[in-house]
Amino acid sequence: MLLKGKVVLITGAARGIGRATAKILSEQGAKVGVADILDEVSQTADEIEKAGGKSHFAVFDISDPNQVKSGVQQIRDQLGDIDILVNNAGIVTNIARLTKMSIDAWQKEINVNLSGAFYLIKEVIPQMVEKKWGRIINMSSGAATGGLHRQVGYASSKAGLLGMTKTVALEHARDGITCNAILPGLIETELVKMMPEEMLKMTSLAIPARRTGQTEEVAQLVAFLASNHAAYINGAAIPIDGGMTLNTGSLGSRKEMKEMLA
Ligand SMILES: NC(=O)c1ccc[n+]([C@@H]2O[C@H](COP(=O)([O-])OP(=O)(O)OC[C@H]3O[C@@H](n4cnc5c(N)ncnc54)[C@H](O)[C@@H]3O)[C@@H](O)[C@H]2O)c1
Repeated sequence: MLLKGKVVLITGAARGIGRATAKILSEQGAKVGVADILDEVSQTADEIEKAGGKSHFAVFDISDPNQVKSGVQQIRDQLGDIDILVNNAGIVTNIARLTKMSIDAWQKEINVNLSGAFYLIKEVIPQMVEKKWGRIINMSSGAATGGLHRQVGYASSKAGLLGMTKTVALEHARDGITCNAILPGLIETELVKMMPEEMLKMTSLAIPARRTGQTEEVAQLVAFLASNHAAYINGAAIPIDGGMTLNTGSLGSRKEMKEMLA
């Protein structure tokens, strides 16, 4: 077991990547604190306990620093000091070009996706420093490096997470703490599965692997980065996207795609 006895806190664990990650880290022996703004996060904790793991849930909004403080304390009271933080919760609130994007939507995405991660790191890092061991994993996105048409708030928040990741890595490398970012491509969560089949097929065509990723594949990467095996990986931004960010604009790639569409 990679994470025996470690205490993990995962945000956004009611569904999708967060839920799958909670289960896989539990299978690796961690005690898993699961947090979400949705009450359904209690089901993730129940499922982990039923499978023989140890879990506790807390419902709070990561964009509110006071709620973060009390939420983290709830998990700490039940499971112990947090060794591993997975900043996974994230939102898209508005799909519009910059000129049409509302200031409210911009602020909400920055508050949840970027400031939320900052509040959580601030809350857990002092005890990691004391213990001289810690892992912080920030769920960014391919949008951080490639931008995302009609999602300027989301892409900016995810790019901001990369700056945060690298800075935390620099400041705490000598404290036995690593901080890394994961950049998923298109991962098949419950929400992605609800996309019209034709749209999903077209999107998959633009991915060299010609398929979407599975939540468990992202979860396994989190488990590795959280383990002792990854002690020398720090400040990295790791894509997990079936090759989506590679040069798919070359003549050869475009020819292959055209043949598949014919
Ligand atoms: N699914 C993908 O293809 C994909 C691609 C790139 C990046 N990501 C990132 O991975 C992470 C997980 O994505 P997902 O697809 O599983 O998303 P999801 O929407 O299925 O799950 C996100 C979870 O975060 C929770 N959440 C939202 N706002 C919150 C808040 N203020 N406080 C606490 N919890 C909150 C939601 O309730 C939800 O349970 C996100 O950060 C997302 O941006 C996902």
